Amino acid sequence: MSTSVSTYGRIGETERAAFRAGPVDEESAGRLATNGLDYRRIAVDSDEYVGWLQSVARGFQDGERTAEQIAATRERSGYRRLTGVFDPESPMDAPVATIASWLGELTVPGEAMIPSCAISAVTVAPTHRRKGVARAMLEGELRAAQAAGIPMAMLTVSESPLYGRYGFAPAAAGASWTIETKRAGWIGPQPAGRIDFIGRERVRELMPALHERVRHRHPGEIDVPGSHWDGFAGTNPAAEKTAEKRAVQYSDAAGEVRGVAVYAVRENHDDFTKATVSVHYLLAETDDAYAALWRFLLELDLVAEVHAGELSVDEPLLWMIADQRAAKVSVRDHQYLRIIDVVAALETRRYGGSGTLVLDVSDSLGIASGRYLLEVDGRGAARVRILGDGESIDAPTVALGVAELSATYLGGVSLATLAAAGRVTVTDASAGASADALAKATRVLGWHTAPRLSIWY
Ligand SMILES: CC(C)(COP(=O)(O)OP(=O)(O)OC[C@H]1O[C@@H](n2cnc3c(N)ncnc32)[C@H](O)[C@@H]1OP(=O)(O)O)[C@@H](O)C(=O)NCCC(=O)NCCS
Repeated sequence: MSTSVSTYGRIGETERAAFRAGPVDEESAGRLATNGLDYRRIAVDSDEYVGWLQSVARGFQDGERTAEQIAATRERSGYRRLTGVFDPESPMDAPVATIASWLGELTVPGEAMIPSCAISAVTVAPTHRRKGVARAMLEGELRAAQAAGIPMAMLTVSESPLYGRYGFAPAAAGASWTIETKRAGWIGPQPAGRIDFIGRERVRELMPALHERVRHRHPGEIDVPGSHWDGFAGTNPAAEKTAEKRAVQYSDAAGEVRGVAVYAVRENHDDFTKATVSVHYLLAETDDAYAALWRFLLELDLVAEVHAGELSVDEPLLWMIADQRAAKVSVRDHQYLRIIDVVAALETRRYGGSGTLVLDVSDSLGIASGRYLLEVDGRGAARVRILGDGESIDAPTVALGVAELSATYLGGVSLATLAAAGRVTVTDASAGASADALAKATRVLGWHTAPRLSIWY
């Protein structure tokens, strides 16, 4: 994988397999070994996989997995690199800590894609917590990704304070909506296509293809592993509550399917007119599909409230209802990014402005630190060069941590906002910290649309 190209092609299975098969990081393995712990990869088809999965379930306060759940998850886990930390003194045949990762495609501003190491299943047993095990695994996985030439890492979090220390920052926020249906009042388009109920297998068949056609348009989207589609569609035989899922498709006037929504209804026995709908996933390829599916959900009989989590912060839906106060929207951090290769990351995305900046990046792990010259041309394409010691450039200098740079990467937050929050400083060679330099730097690094949310687990 090159680190000085401005576009990446699709990631092939060979690259994905090579990443899965790569060794664990030696530095972390050595550090854990001094504490009597063994850090090693686990094959998905091995006996150790069972203990690994049970440790993950316990780590997230879930119950023990049944044989059926283990078989179904095993069958769907081939895309992941699995690692465990074992304590030879432990009486149980299971790791005391777990981590999983896979090579994914993250859409960045400008409809380009950057290969990213997606990290999940981070758990440390309560018996081994707060001894630096998670730190060793996170640092280890980042160094393994760096060694494999992967320019970016990404994850979602159970708790916000966990990952900033490793250089991650929230880059795409998610919104949770609760809509009072009777109050909302549909004023959006009323497309000419049709809505039909479909079964789970049909959902499973439609969603990947639809998503494949839309994900390149929205910064923040990722390619979704098949197991996740099984989760949304309810086609994983071991999944719970699949029977409650209902699904509809939207076909346009020409009969092409352009969107799918999966939802569940909870009835209210005290008042049958006050059922609640939870939208699990709404995927729309066209504006018409988006409008038609939301209208369908908001106008369901006997439904008083529609809940939808993990929406984007900039949903057109808000402008399709007559009473915006019918919607209670709460926004929170969702997708976290961590730039590993600054040159590759900055050259891959596109920019809303043009100009020249120096980025003075600090990184406590030493992975991304350095001074970088970013030159963005009139088409929003960038060239990036690592500056030599003492090399001085007549351009605004932005001093920031790798977390802050990662936060700006998808366009989810501006440099001006981070500067006002005291998280970055922008200086000008002649005028020091000036409003002009900040405005210029903010324009260069900016992007004109909010990132879309990727949904993953
Ligand atoms: C979160 C978890 C993985 C931490 O594991 P751990 O081995 O105890 O973490 P470490 O000892 O390596 O701690 C590393 C750093 O994180 C901090 N930290 C750990 N857990 C934290 C928490 N819940 N909140 C805030 N900080 C935390 C530590 O203080 C330490 O800080 P420092 O190195 O900067 O001094 C573990 O508690 C766990 O499994 N929790 C339940 C599952 C979960 O939420 N996983 C995360 C999924 S996104």
